[in-house]
Amino acid sequence: MAQQLLLFQLMIFSSWAAATIAFSSQPLQTCPQNCGNVTIPFPFGTSEGCYMDTEYSITCNTSYNPPKPFLVDGQHEVLSIPLDGEILIEGRRSYASYCPNSTGSDLSKIHVSLNGSPFRFSNRNRFTAMGCNTMATISELEVLGFASGCLSFCTYQTVVDNGSCDGKGCCQNKIPKGLQGFNVSLSSALTFNGTWETSTCSFAFLVAEDSFSFQALDLSETSLNMKNIPVAVDWAIGNSTCEAAVGGPICGPNSNCSNSSNNVTGYRCYCNKGFEGNPYLSIGCQDINECKEGYNNSCAAEARCFNTYGSYECKCPDHHHGDGREDGQGCMHNTGAIPLVAIVAGTGLGIIFLFVCMFLLYWAIKRRKLIKLREKFFENNGGLLLRQHIATRKDVEDIAKIFTLDDIKKATNNFDERRILGQGGNGTVYKGILSNKAVAIKKSKIVDQSQIIQFINEVDILSQINHRNVVKLLGCCLETEVPLLVYEFISSGTLYEHIHEENHASYISWEDRLRVAAETAGALAYLHSSHSIPVLHRDVKSTNILLDDKYIAKVSDFGASRLAPMDRIQMTTLVQGTFGYLDPESFLTGQLTDKSDVYSFGVVLAELLTGEKPLSSARAEEHTSLAMYFISSMENNNLFQIIDDQVIEEGIKEQLLGVANLVMKCLKVKGEKRPTMKEVAAELDALRMSNDYSWKQQNHMESDYQLAEPLIIYVGESSGQESVESNLLVPLHIAR
Ligand SMILES: *[C@@H]1O[C@H](CO)[C@@H](O)[C@H](O)[C@H]1NC(C)=O
Ligand SMILES: *[C@@H]1O[C@H](CO)[C@@H](O)[C@H](O)[C@H]1NC(C)=O
Ligand SMILES: *[C@@H]1O[C@H](CO)[C@@H](O)[C@H](O)[C@H]1NC(C)=O
Ligand SMILES: *[C@@H]1O[C@H](CO)[C@@H](O)[C@H](O)[C@H]1NC(C)=O
Ligand SMILES: *[C@@H]1O[C@H](CO)[C@@H](O)[C@H](O)[C@H]1NC(C)=O
Ligand SMILES: *[C@@H]1O[C@H](CO)[C@@H](O)[C@H](O)[C@H]1NC(C)=O
Ligand SMILES: *[C@@H]1O[C@H](CO)[C@@H](O)[C@H](O)[C@H]1NC(C)=O
Ligand SMILES: *[C@@H]1O[C@H](CO)[C@@H](O)[C@H](O)[C@H]1NC(C)=O
Ligand SMILES: *[C@@H]1O[C@H](CO)[C@@H](O)[C@H](O)[C@H]1NC(C)=O
Ligand SMILES: *[C@@H]1O[C@H](CO)[C@@H](O)[C@H](O)[C@H]1NC(C)=O
Ligand SMILES: *[C@@H]1O[C@H](CO)[C@@H](O)[C@H](O)[C@H]1NC(C)=O
Repeated sequence: MAQQLLLFQLMIFSSWAAATIAFSSQPLQTCPQNCGNVTIPFPFGTSEGCYMDTEYSITCNTSYNPPKPFLVDGQHEVLSIPLDGEILIEGRRSYASYCPNSTGSDLSKIHVSLNGSPFRFSNRNRFTAMGCNTMATISELEVLGFASGCLSFCTYQTVVDNGSCDGKGCCQNKIPKGLQGFNVSLSSALTFNGTWETSTCSFAFLVAEDSFSFQALDLSETSLNMKNIPVAVDWAIGNSTCEAAVGGPICGPNSNCSNSSNNVTGYRCYCNKGFEGNPYLSIGCQDINECKEGYNNSCAAEARCFNTYGSYECKCPDHHHGDGREDGQGCMHNTGAIPLVAIVAGTGLGIIFLFVCMFLLYWAIKRRKLIKLREKFFENNGGLLLRQHIATRKDVEDIAKIFTLDDIKKATNNFDERRILGQGGNGTVYKGILSNKAVAIKKSKIVDQSQIIQFINEVDILSQINHRNVVKLLGCCLETEVPLLVYEFISSGTLYEHIHEENHASYISWEDRLRVAAETAGALAYLHSSHSIPVLHRDVKSTNILLDDKYIAKVSDFGASRLAPMDRIQMTTLVQGTFGYLDPESFLTGQLTDKSDVYSFGVVLAELLTGEKPLSSARAEEHTSLAMYFISSMENNNLFQIIDDQVIEEGIKEQLLGVANLVMKCLKVKGEKRPTMKEVAAELDALRMSNDYSWKQQNHMESDYQLAEPLIIYVGESSGQESVESNLLVPLHIAR
């Protein structure tokens, strides 16, 4: 048994390791995002724990106002660090200059180098010299063996052109790839007779193409101090190509790896088209909402823009056709019919009559086909069976309603995209209005035909469950290929969001947590025992507990997942439920019992107590699973170290201990040793009574919780790394 348990844990951890290995060096939460006016994005950073490697460390010198960032060598001031381009550094301090009068010397030399950093000067830079009798050379003889140079003159006759660098007072050269350091020397081109003004100074420096505009006035200055000289610097991650990177390139979701250019070893990550953000972070790049104000989309003025994941669509208004794009066809009025009618009118009424007849015939056939198809779907989906069930029932009130497709289309405004509440592996959930009541309509993906009878039975039973803490199934529509389920609408999102999502609108207090736990336990106990036919939930987890506007718990997601194809992953048949909540015993035996729900509920209780996620790679490896973490903490008498700080503040010690002990009982490895759901519910009620919360509760009921974005049924796509497992939703079953 112990060995098998270990195996079970190993399976969880190995799937974790694969997901996390590439992103071992993520920046701390507290890292400063900028230095003075310059944004410093990861992999760069100004302090330990913020940069990926010392090579990408940036020194922020706060003795300037505003502070100035410098490259790792401490020599070069950084002007900007765009993640999709080259770093720009300030070249103002690295130019050669000589003014014949002041220095008396005829030659000036400087050495510029990025030694000590992994970066290279971009070949987008231009070697630029200015002067009226000037010869400038640039050389790098040690590695590349490169030397080049240019001459610049201004004669009496020459009019020096502002903005052009073509030999009249200014000259430019390209440089090769891979330059890391170079020498510049500057001298007069002595043999030339007839310079414009021998007293002008000469300069030579490297500057990013198009970033420097030569002005005639520059020649009469004695220094370049007033000008910005941005120099482009190439950088890359690691020291290998994308393919050769150890453990794979660290590019996050929605980004692509690309070999670095310019002879810098390493690779870079770039957000895919339609996405933006930092590809080096584990969260990767996010979808751009091209339809938002200020973003460019090429939708024509009269077309409406709809954002999609990674792109957007332009839709023409009614009675228009075309692709809706400014750079395409745009939207055109459906005028085609009018000239046609005119022609037809010209050729005689008989032809019109023929057309009308043909149209009517066509329409009638199409309509008939549609009705036939709907009838076929209705039959395939067990509609007749369900009707039979209904006919045998007396209490008409509680029975599943069978909605027509027309009802549902009306309710969802013909499956309007703006009505979508959530989308995931299992299907899409729409918000709808059915006879003035808000409902959630779940449109699942492919249905398994062989399970239709079970599906119908479940719809039938579920719709009869009338418990305050269970999301009510109102009915279904069977006229589509895949049945649609209609649920009561719950407005305030999932318990998971309230516990774990930091930016969620409101924090859930301990008394609310305890009440939600008691309500959930009560609902599960009711399902297990009170109902005429015992019902197992099979996938108890915090994402399946919804909260309404008064924070009343509503247990959700039964039966619906019966619609999920069962052969998605080999493991579905073996493992039922969601990792992190899964009863180890049933995992081994392959049989789910009412005690499996008790185990999963124990994990939810632990979540409420600790505020920890059921699976988290942030904890030590052997504690990835919250259940293991909780048990080992209890055994080591460390309970109060893992309880959520806020909970400790609000709770009473005895009460917290009581709940913790209850968790331990629920998490017992042997199912038979766990309490029944009814006992759990009773104990939670007793714990709630152990302190008089009633006045607070009263207060709470009156306050009006309004969350910014109402969300209803959780469709199995949780954020981040849990998503691998969260699609293994498993239906409610009738215990046999
Ligand atoms: C830098 O930021 C300061 C305010 O923090 C602003 O006054 C200044 O204009 C900015 N300078 C540049 C070059 O953007
Ligand atoms: C910051 O700049 C000042 C002035 O250039 C210099 O004296 C100082 O050493 C720099 N500090 C750091 C930490 O580099
Ligand atoms: C350069 O030297 C000449 C003669 O010594 C002097 O007349 C002229 O003013 C000087 N020019 C500058 C810019 O110092
Ligand atoms: C620059 O010149 C110095 C002295 O002439 C020489 O030692 C050095 O190698 C040169 N550096 C490069 C990069 O060519
Ligand atoms: C160049 O610009 C300066 C001012 O920046 C102006 O005085 C001069 O006339 C311009 N020269 C030409 C040839 O346009
Ligand atoms: C330089 O110019 C002077 C007068 O402007 C002329 O006498 C002399 O021959 C020229 N020298 C050369 C090498 O062209
Ligand atoms: C590449 O980087 C790895 C780790 O940073 C290092 O162990 C290895 O020696 C480097 N290889 C080369 C060729 O620089
Ligand atoms: C970039 O990613 C997209 C989708 O993520 C993929 O279709 C495309 O082939 C990738 N391009 C490269 C060069 O890897
Ligand atoms: C990176 O370079 C290697 C070798 O030069 C090449 O095989 C590979 O296809 C390149 N990968 C990308 C994404 O360009
Ligand atoms: C790239 O750098 C290597 C040495 O680091 C050099 O041998 C090679 O010539 C360079 N390639 C180019 C195109 O500059
Ligand atoms: C939108 O397009 C204009 C012109 O093509 C461009 O100047 C602007 O930067 C673009 N804006 C965004 C947010 O991409």
